[in-house]
Amino acid sequence: MLGSIRLLSLFCVFGGLMTMASAHRTENHEFRPPGEGDIRSPCPFLNTLANHGYVPRNGKNVTIRDVVDGGREGFNVGPNFLKVVGKKGYLTSPYIDSFDLNHLNLRGCIETDASLTRADAFFAPNDTNLAFNETVYQTLASSNPGVDYYNITSAGWVLQARLNDSLANNPELVNGPKEIFNRAGASALYLSVLGDPKAGTVPKKFVDTVFREERMPDIYGWRKSEIVIDLDIVLPLAQAIQAASNWIPTGGAYPGQQELVLFSG
Ligand code: HEM
Ligand SMILES: *[C@@H]1O[C@H](CO)[C@@H](O)[C@H](O)[C@H]1NC(C)=O
Ligand SMILES: *[C@@H]1O[C@H](CO)[C@@H](O)[C@H](O)[C@H]1NC(C)=O
Ligand SMILES: *[C@@H]1O[C@H](CO)[C@@H](O)[C@H](O)[C@H]1NC(C)=O
Ligand SMILES: *[C@@H]1O[C@H](CO)[C@@H](O)[C@H](O)[C@H]1NC(C)=O
Ligand SMILES: *[C@@H]1O[C@H](CO)[C@@H](O)[C@H](O)[C@H]1NC(C)=O
Repeated sequence: MLGSIRLLSLFCVFGGLMTMASAHRTENHEFRPPGEGDIRSPCPFLNTLANHGYVPRNGKNVTIRDVVDGGREGFNVGPNFLKVVGKKGYLTSPYIDSFDLNHLNLRGCIETDASLTRADAFFAPNDTNLAFNETVYQTLASSNPGVDYYNITSAGWVLQARLNDSLANNPELVNGPKEIFNRAGASALYLSVLGDPKAGTVPKKFVDTVFREERMPDIYGWRKSEIVIDLDIVLPLAQAIQAASNWIPTGGAYPGQQELVLFSG
């Protein structure tokens, strides 16, 4: 009797160790680009998390829990931002409580025109704007010439330049307060998650690696922030970037939605 209890508890301990060991064995967070059938998003950072196995590598049935845990483990991004954007993610999906990464490309929920790395839906219909576009990225990649970092000034200039391009060429552009909030917020995220969240500066190499290759830039010396990147950090940075962009609303509406009423003065 005593013996079998001992044997049982030995099995429990051993079983527990086995589970831990196999979890580590199956996911070492190495970089592996998406394979056949894997799904990716319009978000370079989510794709990076998927390419390193911090969220499901197949990009399917992703939950808020997945992005809260994966975003913290991979980038030390805080739960307050990830819960809000994760909920918006559910709204893009036909599933009840998860999404596939491509669902996030739904126009007007999180996705906007005048992005940093993706063409406007108008120029790349049928979700072809899911993928990174080097032509679009050239605006950011060539910003802040002469130095090896991006900062708040250059991030604001890039937002303005990308918007100018859409204003000139995209007759279906939507450019209201929600859009600039999302766009400036995303810019604050690349400065803070990859760079110095206090100074708002980031080595160009780190940003270019995540955007172009959807790969963690630790191979170039990047280390995950020691402080949690949460809304307390992101929102003030986003405000500074928006101010530097001299943004003005021009309205527009998504199909099926009401035209935004713009106030003048
Ligand atoms: C882990 C932390 C995250 C960071 C640092 C981050 C950062 C970014 C950045 C910098 C962009 C701009 C890309 C561009 O303009 O081309 C972006 C776009 C986007 N992100 Fe994330 N993101 C994160 C998590 C998430 C999550 C959890 C979701 C949804 C569940 C999400 C959904 C999106 C979407 C839909 C876009 C496309 C917006 C557009 O049209 O440009 N992101 N993100
Ligand atoms: C994802 O969720 C959907 C809807 O609940 C389900 O039909 C599908 O089988 C799931 N896919 C995977 C890979 O788990
Ligand atoms: C990339 O973006 C440019 C500029 O919007 C567009 O003309 C081009 O068609 C896009 N390329 C792809 C493959 O979508
Ligand atoms: C997009 O999809 C629609 C419907 O399937 C098709 O008629 C159209 O030709 C597609 N456009 C492009 C540019 O692929
Ligand atoms: C950003 O960098 C440029 C180039 O060094 C510099 O002129 C500008 O003042 C910097 N902006 C901030 C906010 O430090
Ligand atoms: C955007 O367009 C405005 C108005 O034409 C111009 O003053 C500004 O310099 C442009 N900004 C960029 C970054 O190209």
